[in-house]
Amino acid sequence: MERTLRSIVPTHTVLEGGGFKVRRPVAMGRLMSPFLLLDEMGPVTYGPGEAIGAPSHPHRGFETVTYLLEGGVKHADSAGNSGDLNPGDVQWMTAGRGVIHSELPQDEMMEHGGRMHGFQIWVNLPAADKMMAPRYQDIPAKNIPEATSEDGAVWAKVIAGKALGVEAVIDTVIPITYIHLKLQPGASYVHASKAEHNLMVYAFGGAFEIGGRTLTDGGLGILSEGETLSLKAGPDGGECLLLGGPELDEPIARYGPFVMNTREEIYQAVEDYQNGTLA
Ligand code: FE2
Repeated sequence: MERTLRSIVPTHTVLEGGGFKVRRPVAMGRLMSPFLLLDEMGPVTYGPGEAIGAPSHPHRGFETVTYLLEGGVKHADSAGNSGDLNPGDVQWMTAGRGVIHSELPQDEMMEHGGRMHGFQIWVNLPAADKMMAPRYQDIPAKNIPEATSEDGAVWAKVIAGKALGVEAVIDTVIPITYIHLKLQPGASYVHASKAEHNLMVYAFGGAFEIGGRTLTDGGLGILSEGETLSLKAGPDGGECLLLGGPELDEPIARYGPFVMNTREEIYQAVEDYQNGTLA
């Protein structure tokens, strides 16, 4: 059975962290297990001294995945990890029982300004894994598999899952699909996946036709169940993220940067953070 566009969630622009502009689908939280959040950061061009990031903050109970297209981010955390994210790089951070970290523009970007564009996605963890030990997978662009269709009309960067016969290198706690796709005008791409897994398409350039409906720039398309998805790019081509995973079907208790299953677990997270025992 082929997947169809069940609904289209529009995006709105919000200010996040220290005040940076992000494009975020409206009310996707409940719609698309196992994803909790999808932020498109920018594209924005900062002047000297204007770039803004997210200073030190905690997380517990899920994963944050940062994928940068343009610009530079530096991160540092309570476990002593630090590093730079450059265009094409991915940081897959499993907060698990707790991490306190900062995500800031690189000094160069801070001083001279520049363009910033990227994505941050929150992936929920099943109850059994919410308190797992934190882990980081910092994958430089050169180690992330890419593939191009035989006719050259479809390009895919395989961050998680599989596309065009190529498999991702990132290890995920639950089976996740995270593909960056670029289609030339009129090109088609067919994606096969487990019929019962949730799948969604976030368009951030051009347009796509899916089962007779059109998804345009800034739209998050929620798909019906099915083994295959057929995407056809519009006359200007199309660029999107393809995201998928299992339905967790567990209660969600959420307070800011903590995502647990019960209120009590949220109180515990706040208490641990205040006591200095979260991370
Ligand atoms: Fe964060």
